Order: sequence, then C-alpha cells, then structure tokens
Amino acid sequence: PVLVVDYGAQYAQLIARRVREARIYSEVVPHTATVEDLIARDPAAIILSGGPSSVYADGAPSLDAALLAAGIPVFGMCYGFQAMAAALGGTVARTGLREYGQTTMRRDGPHSTLFHGQPREQSVWMSHGDSVSVAPEGMTVTATTAGAPVAAFEDDVRRLYGVQWHPEVVHSTFGQEVLENFLYSGAGLAPDWDAASVIDEQVEAIRATVGDKRVLCALSGGVDSSVAAALVHKAVGDRLTCVFVDHGLLREGEAEAVEREFVASTGVHLVVVDARERFLTALAGVRDPEEKRKIIGREFIRVFEQAARDVVGEAAAEGHPVEFLVQGTLYPDVVESGGGTGTANIKSHHNVGGLPDDLQFALVEPLRDLFKDEVRKVGLELGVPEAIVWRQPFPGPGLGIRIVGEVTAENLATLRAADQIARHELTAAGLDRTIWQCPVVLLADVRSVGVQGDGRTYGHPIVLRPVSSEDAMTADWTRLPYDVLATISTRITNEVDGVNRVTLDVTSKPPGTIEWE
Ligand code: XMP
Repeated sequence: PVLVVDYGAQYAQLIARRVREARIYSEVVPHTATVEDLIARDPAAIILSGGPSSVYADGAPSLDAALLAAGIPVFGMCYGFQAMAAALGGTVARTGLREYGQTTMRRDGPHSTLFHGQPREQSVWMSHGDSVSVAPEGMTVTATTAGAPVAAFEDDVRRLYGVQWHPEVVHSTFGQEVLENFLYSGAGLAPDWDAASVIDEQVEAIRATVGDKRVLCALSGGVDSSVAAALVHKAVGDRLTCVFVDHGLLREGEAEAVEREFVASTGVHLVVVDARERFLTALAGVRDPEEKRKIIGREFIRVFEQAARDVVGEAAAEGHPVEFLVQGTLYPDVVESGGGTGTANIKSHHNVGGLPDDLQFALVEPLRDLFKDEVRKVGLELGVPEAIVWRQPFPGPGLGIRIVGEVTAENLATLRAADQIARHELTAAGLDRTIWQCPVVLLADVRSVGVQGDGRTYGHPIVLRPVSSEDAMTADWTRLPYDVLATISTRITNEVDGVNRVTLDVTSKPPGTIEWE
C-alpha cells in the first residue's frame, strides 16, 4: 500500500482517498508508528500529511530521518513537508508571513516531476505559519509563493518530494495531478486498484478466514450490510445465510427491494422474518423518541437472536457450525477507533450488538478497508441493485422516529405515501446526489385547519428536511429549487389523505439535528 502518515489533522483520510482515486491502494497510519513498523508494511510509497503543529514546538510529532533513507519514495505535504525539511538538515523558520487559503504558486527551475505537464502558475491551498527557509542539501526547489521561498522541493535520485500546500483539497487546482505525478512518475506506481481487484482480494481473504464454516449476516436494507453480504456470498455461496428483520418501519418499496431485487441479483440465501405486527404492538402508545429507539433496538435484537438461533441450530443439526457474523464496518470507523494499521479481516471472538453470551461469532468485515464511495463501486460491480447502492443514510429505527407522535399502521401509511412522493420528485429533478439525506416527517400530534374542495379540513403537516452534509456530524439545509418544492407540496396535499400542509425545515445542524426525533 501507499501509507499516509497521519500528523493529526483532518487531512490524512482525505489524502488516502485521493490516492485511491488515482487507483492505488492506500491506508492511513498514525505518526507514532516507528520506521520499523512502516517498513514492515512494505509500502510502495509514503505520504506525510499536514498537521496542526510547528515542527519546533514541544512534543511536535517528529520524523525519523531513517525513513527518508530507506529507499522508499516519500511525499511530504504541509507539516509533512516541513518535517522532511527539518529531518534532512534544512531550515524551518517563522518568516512572520502566515499564508492561509488560496495562494498562487510559481514554478521554479527547468525540470519538475511533480509539476510536469502543468501551468507555471497554479492556485494552491495554504495553511501554514512556519516556512522552509533553506532547502536541505540535494533538494531542488521547484516552486515558490509570496510567503514561502521554498514552497516545493524534489529529489528524483532519492525519490523524495514535498510541497508546502495541501494538494489533497479541491481548492488546489492541480492537486490531484501533482499527487498523481508523484505516484506514477516519482514512485513509479501503476494505477491498477479498482472495484474488481478489491473484490478478488476480499473473496480470497474471506475464503481463507471462513474455511468450510458457515456465516450469518443481518441484512438491514442499507448499502453497507447489502454490499458486505454480496461480497461474502461471492466468496462462500450458500454457506452464507442472511436474516432480514422486516420491522415495518422501512420506506415504500425498501423491504421489497431487499426481499426480491437483492436476492434476485445476488442469489443470496435470505431468511425474512416478518415482525411488523410485533413492532407495532411494542410501540403502541409510545410517543417519547428515546423510548421508541430503545423499544425498536430491543425488539430487533430479540427477533434477530431467535432467527440466528434457528439458523445456527439447523446448520448444527446438519453438522455445520455457524461461526462467523458479517459486519459492514467501513474504513473511517476503523481509522477513528485507532485500528488503521491492521489489515486483519477478523477480530477475535467478540460479542456483537447485544447478542447473548451463548451466541458468539467471530466477525467478517469485508468492507473495513473501504470508504463509502468505494463500497458503492464494489456494490455496483457485484450487481447489487442501484436502489440499494445509492440509498441515502437511513436510521436504524426507520420511520419510527419520523412520526412525531404515535407509531401506528395508519400513521406509517400516511408517512410512507408522502415520503414516496418527495423521493420520487427529488430523483426526477436530479437532486439525489446533491442531497445528503431528506427525512420526511409526519407531525401526527399536530393538526391545522385547511380548505380543500368546498370543505374545511383539519389535517396533519408533513415536514421536508433536506440536508447537505459530509458526514452527518454537521449539516446545512439544502436550498432546493422552489419549483421542485412546489411540485412536492402540491402532490402530497392532493394525494395523501390526512395531510393538508407541507412545510420546509430551514435549520442547520447544529442547532437542529437531522432527524426530528
Ligand atoms: P441526527 O438526527 O442525530 O442524525 O442529526 C445524524 C445521522 O444519524 C442518523 N440517525 C440514526 N441512525 N439510529 C441510526 O442508525 C438512530 O437512532 C439514528 N438517529 C439518527 C440520521 O439519519 C443521520 O444520518
């Protein structure tokens, strides 16, 4: 892999994604990894990320010069660039000139590997207080900016490169080209990592891990569990059993997409548990959001546990132990929990999601090396239906927390109808990829007066909550075109019984959350 050493800012994951966009596999490693750790991973190249420190500050993460002498191509960015300069005997100083944001860089000298094929001036994204004032010996300075006399250096012999700015952000106009020049020309790597190669690798890894044992998977209808299941199915075929708990809280068509389209396109062996009545009964009379969540979570575990026992029991009766459970863990979770250095697919025995002690499985996590967009590509390559691959984030408790008031069959039917119209119109307007997610909420406990035909109505409002976000931690309300809003409003009030008003939520997060409950 290309290893991205994380110097503690938010940039490392983004760099890894950019490397993967160049179709080369990349992973993030903490800056505390030793040179021996790094070399043991046999990296094709190393990238040193930006970070918040000054290289001379107390406790600043340091760079061991031995790493730069190991014959591995290295590319330093921002802090990584300065750390390289310091480790190689250059000078990093406070020039008194801070540069932040968009800056113009000018190429210097006749030859450059990094900037080959690019204009002599480019707009780059800077964020630094310190600057390299004297380049290390053997390094050719290939770019300058107003605030940084040494804005880039290169050494084709040792294959060491660095830039003062952030090529990974979109504001650096030729950022991706600079990175690709490093990867392809500087490090001599070939772009051959793609969805098909991920599938081949994972299939092999899953087979090696699972052997002739059986695997269980809880399918939710979301992207991650579906793609994970499809991948494991490709590896072990009918030794995988998927359990889909239909809790009746999915949107129109979603349960069917799992039950029919997913099975038809992947051939997965699926056990569907129809628990709709059970969930409705458990939720009867409940209005408090947290209580709803608790009930839905508890019932889900109970139903899944029973189904798992049945599957495990049947397989055992045939002499086939079920020892593994599929989990759709993604790479950002792995990095955030500090496990970015491992390539292992399997954590040792581990109790999952509240299952009882006597039902224990080892985990199979075939997506733990992937970002969300890569999971989607793998899903499409595996033939997972687009409706599932491109599904927006959807909360586990489903429509249960999009009804302000009691979750009844009638309220669910009303919300489903309104949601289906909103989704249809947003898709028709080509807005799916602009919106992070658009909860549609039924205010079942609120009524307002309206007039329709000749009569007075006393119905419920529907709230549209379209948001734009990167990661759901913060969000802004999406400025939808008025004509699209008008169509959705007209259709919902005309077509959905009991709804006489459509409102738009124009609150960012914070202070609002994305969901209403
Ligand atoms: P909030 O409403 O907290 O939502 O801004 C952030 C993201 O999390 C989803 N969400 C949930 N997902 N169980 C889930 O699995 C939940 O109880 C839950 N509540 C919110 C929400 O859809 C958004 O993507």
